[in-house]
Amino acid sequence: MSKILIANWKMHPATEAEAVKLAKASDAANVVLCPPFPFLSAVSRSIKKAALGAQDMFWETTGPFTGEVSSEELQSFNVKHVILGHSERRSALEETDEMIAKKVALALAQGITPILCIGETRMQHDSGQTTEVVNKQLRSAFSLIPADAGSAQPVVYIAYEPVWAISTNQVGAPVSESPADTQSVVRYMQGIIRGVPITPRFLYGGSVNERNLGDFLACPEIDGALVGGASVRATEFKKMITQAAAA
Ligand code: PGA
Repeated sequence: MSKILIANWKMHPATEAEAVKLAKASDAANVVLCPPFPFLSAVSRSIKKAALGAQDMFWETTGPFTGEVSSEELQSFNVKHVILGHSERRSALEETDEMIAKKVALALAQGITPILCIGETRMQHDSGQTTEVVNKQLRSAFSLIPADAGSAQPVVYIAYEPVWAISTNQVGAPVSESPADTQSVVRYMQGIIRGVPITPRFLYGGSVNERNLGDFLACPEIDGALVGGASVRATEFKKMITQAAAA
C-alpha cells in the first residue's frame, strides 16, 4: 500500500517559475503539495496526479479580515487539504488551540481535509510532558466538531511533529524523533480520539529526509510524512516519493 507525503513548502520558493518547476518534479498520486498562497493557482495548473493543499485557512467564511484567506477562496484553486495548527504558526503568530479548533471545524464543514499538526516543544519533551501536551492539543482541536456530524467520518491527517525536531536537518544533530517513540505517541493519540467522528490518518513530521523516511514508513501505524525542508529539494523529494509509493 502506498503511503502519503505532504509537502509543506513553507515560505519557499521565491518565484512562481520555481514553484511550477518544483510542482512538476513532485507530481505523484501519493503527494499533497502545499505551496505558499500566491502560487496555488500556478501549482494547481501544473499538477496532474498530486493533490493541492494550503498552509493555513481562516475560521470565518467571509468578512473584513485583512490578510486572511477563506475556505471558498482556497477551493476555487481546487485546494482539497489544509495544514492547520502548525507549530510555526502556534509560536510565531500565537495561534491558540481555540483558533485551531475553529479552523478544523470549518474545514470539515466545507469538505476540506485538515492536516492537523500536534507536538510538544523541547522543554516539554525533556520534562516528560509529551502526552499531556498531545492530549490537550488533540482534544481541543476536535472540540467544535458537532457530535451529530453523521456517519461520513471524514479523513483527518494528524501529523505528530515534535517542535524540537522540525528543521533540525543538520549533519550530526539529533534530527528527528525515533520511529519507536512516534509509534507510541500515535497509539496514545488513537486512544484519545476514539469516538471522534473522523477517520484519522497519522503522519510523522520533523526533519524527514530521504535517509530516515523509510524507518517511519515501516511503522504500520504511520500512514506517511509531513515534509518541510526536503520537499523543496526536488531531487531528494523525488526519491522520497518513490520510497513512499513502495511502502
Ligand atoms: P522539516 O519541517 O521537515 O523541515 O523539519 C516539517 C514541518 O515543519 O512540517
